[in-house]
Formats: sequence, structure tokens, C-alpha cells
Amino acid sequence: MWNIGIVGTGYWSEKHIKAWQHIEDTTITAICDKNTALLNDKSDQYNIREAYRYSDVVTMLEQADIDVMDIITPPETHLELVKLAAAAGKHIMCQKPFARSIAEAEEMVQIAEQAGVRLMVTENWRWLEPFQIIKNLLLEHAVGKLNTIRYIHTDFYSPRFTPDQELPQPFFRDMPQLLFYEMGVHWLDTWRFLFGEPTRLYAETRKVSPYTVGEDSGMILIGYEDYMGLMDMSWATRRELQEPLGEQVLPNHKEQLIIEGDKATIKLYHTGRLTIIDNAGVETVIADQTELNYEDSHRKLQGHFIDCLNTGAEFQTSGLDNLKTLRLVFDTYDSAANHKVQLY
Ligand SMILES: NC(=O)c1ccc[n+]([C@@H]2O[C@H](COP(=O)([O-])OP(=O)(O)OC[C@H]3O[C@@H](n4cnc5c(N)ncnc54)[C@H](O)[C@@H]3O)[C@@H](O)[C@H]2O)c1
Repeated sequence: MWNIGIVGTGYWSEKHIKAWQHIEDTTITAICDKNTALLNDKSDQYNIREAYRYSDVVTMLEQADIDVMDIITPPETHLELVKLAAAAGKHIMCQKPFARSIAEAEEMVQIAEQAGVRLMVTENWRWLEPFQIIKNLLLEHAVGKLNTIRYIHTDFYSPRFTPDQELPQPFFRDMPQLLFYEMGVHWLDTWRFLFGEPTRLYAETRKVSPYTVGEDSGMILIGYEDYMGLMDMSWATRRELQEPLGEQVLPNHKEQLIIEGDKATIKLYHTGRLTIIDNAGVETVIADQTELNYEDSHRKLQGHFIDCLNTGAEFQTSGLDNLKTLRLVFDTYDSAANHKVQLY
């Protein structure tokens, strides 16, 4: 049995809690947030007893019986929390974006290594259903030799961040680097998972919404020795809106992926339909409806974390691995700011 201590009971924590409560050989034996109202609400909601609740992480690490610290707080808190957990000998699962810089990420990796504790970044996007199916198709060489890849994310989200709106994550308004820092870590991690490490990258980014500080649209051109890809990502496009938007401003992310090889083309439609088209033009349905089901992705991700603790196997998205994703994220900003091609 692995005893889990959670830090951060904000917006996304319910995905973690639900997954821990679903995974057989784990139990939540501590939960912490400096905001006690939020701490008690979330704990009540998920039947986490009062004796397990803490408003201070140092006290939690001193008093609670935990093996793992699950960090669900913003990136600026990660270094301090990783230091505390590692010093207490706890394994660590830390939310994305892992760090504000490569130097900070490297420091956390080193701290965990020196303390002899395991460190994984909570990178759930690659565990979403369509990407897991596509990975298996690529492993079976279903498209043959890769030629071109187009990954498209659409939402009409940030232009609706008017000051009167209550947002699930209000801090999005003020983030100086928004789309590719907050979401780009997911996309670039998923991209690496499916297509491997790039050899070139060039990016353009743009701020469309008057209600954000950071960029909310951008394109990244990604080169390999013998194939290439484009990421076309935007929170400020109406192109896939199928019906009038509701009053409340919530994310409504849609993703498409078109992977062209010499044998076939894989198509993930924004509806979730997944097909493969052969050289005769025959389109075969792989799945009528795949879902961006975040709860399911967390069950798989956290299950993988526990499997690796049990077996000693490498985490797919260890702190060390995540350095590669973060490098692509920061290089995206550098490329866009300086019109520079990044070479690897
Ligand atoms: N993987 C995903 O798909 C996904 C989705 C949403 C958010 N996230 C990430 O999860 C992290 C948290 O996001 P959120 O939207 O839940 O934020 P949030 O602001 O809603 O919640 C964060 C909570 O952490 C608490 N906190 C911060 N520092 C603390 C400390 N030192 N001790 C105790 N409590 C502390 C805050 O009081 C707050 O309640 C972010 O890094 C975000 O990018 C990931």
C-alpha cells in the first residue's frame, strides 16, 4: 500500500483525488492547502477525514504517514515543495508546468536524485484515449514511413475572459506566457511521445484576446531528418464551434491530428472520430468516438506512477524526461521572440 499526501486542493485536485481513490494499492493519508476553506470543502467532498487535513506542508511532512507527495500547486511553488518532500524522503509526483526555467527544473531533478527519491511530472495528455490509440497504430507501422504531421487545437476561450467573468483558472488572465507554457507542455510532451525528438523548431505566437497578458495563439513548425510537422494551436478561434456558446466561460478544447505516411493517413477529427485512410482512398473507422477524458487519463497516469514505484521501472515522464519537453516550450518563446530557428 502506498500512502499519498496531497498538496494543493484547488481546481484540478479532484482529478488526482478521484484517481487515487480508484487505484487499488493507494490511500490518501494526508491532504494540505494553506486555504483552509478550500481544504475542508475538498476533503469533505471526498470523505478525507479531519485528522488527515493540514494547512501547512512542513507539519504534514512531520506528522503524516506518507510515502508520496502529490504536488498540485502552481509552478512557482514547485522548487520549495520538492526540496521539502525530498528532504523528508518522499517520492514526488509534481504537476506541470514543472518549472519556470530549465535551471530550476534541473535543480529539482538533482535534489530528488541526491535524496534517492523518485520524481515524476504529472503529464496526463499523452494518456488521453486518442493519443494512446494513435501511439499503438504508429508502433504497428500503420501509416508506414512518416511524411507530415498536423496537430491542431481549437477553442474560443480567451477572448471571453472579460473582467466580469468568473473563470475556473482566473490566473490565466495574468500569465505572461500563457498558451505554450500552460498547455504547450502537454502538446509538446504528447508530440515527443508520438513522433520522437525534433531536430528543428520555429515558432510564431500571437496574443489575440484583449483580456490576457500572454499569447493565446501560435504555430510551431517542427523538423526531423525525413519528416516534418506543424502545431496550429489557438484559444481564440471560432473555426470548430458547432453551436452557440453558453453564458459561462469554460474550456471547450478540441483537438485534431492528421498523420500522413507513405502507406496511410491517420485522422483524428475534432469530434473525436478516429480513422485511417489507405492508398485506395478507403477510410476505415478505428473509433467512432474517442474522448479527451481527463479523469481516465489521470487514472492511467497515476496507475503508471504506482506501477513504476512497485517495479522500479522508469517513469515515462520523469523529471529528467520533462527537461526535454520544457526545453521545447522555452525554445518556442525564444524562437517567436527572436524569429530564430532552434537546432538540436
Ligand atoms: N494536468 C492538467 O491537465 C492540469 C489541469 C489544470 C491544472 N493543472 C496544473 O495544476 C497546478 C494547479 O492548478 P489549479 O488550477 O488546481 O490551481 P489552483 O490555484 O486552483 O489551486 C492551487 C492550490 O494550491 C494551494 N497552494 C499553493 N501553494 C501552496 C503551499 N505552499 N502549501 C499549501 N497549499 C498551497 C493554493 O492555496 C490553491 O488552493 C498548475 O500547475 C496547473 O498548471 C494541470
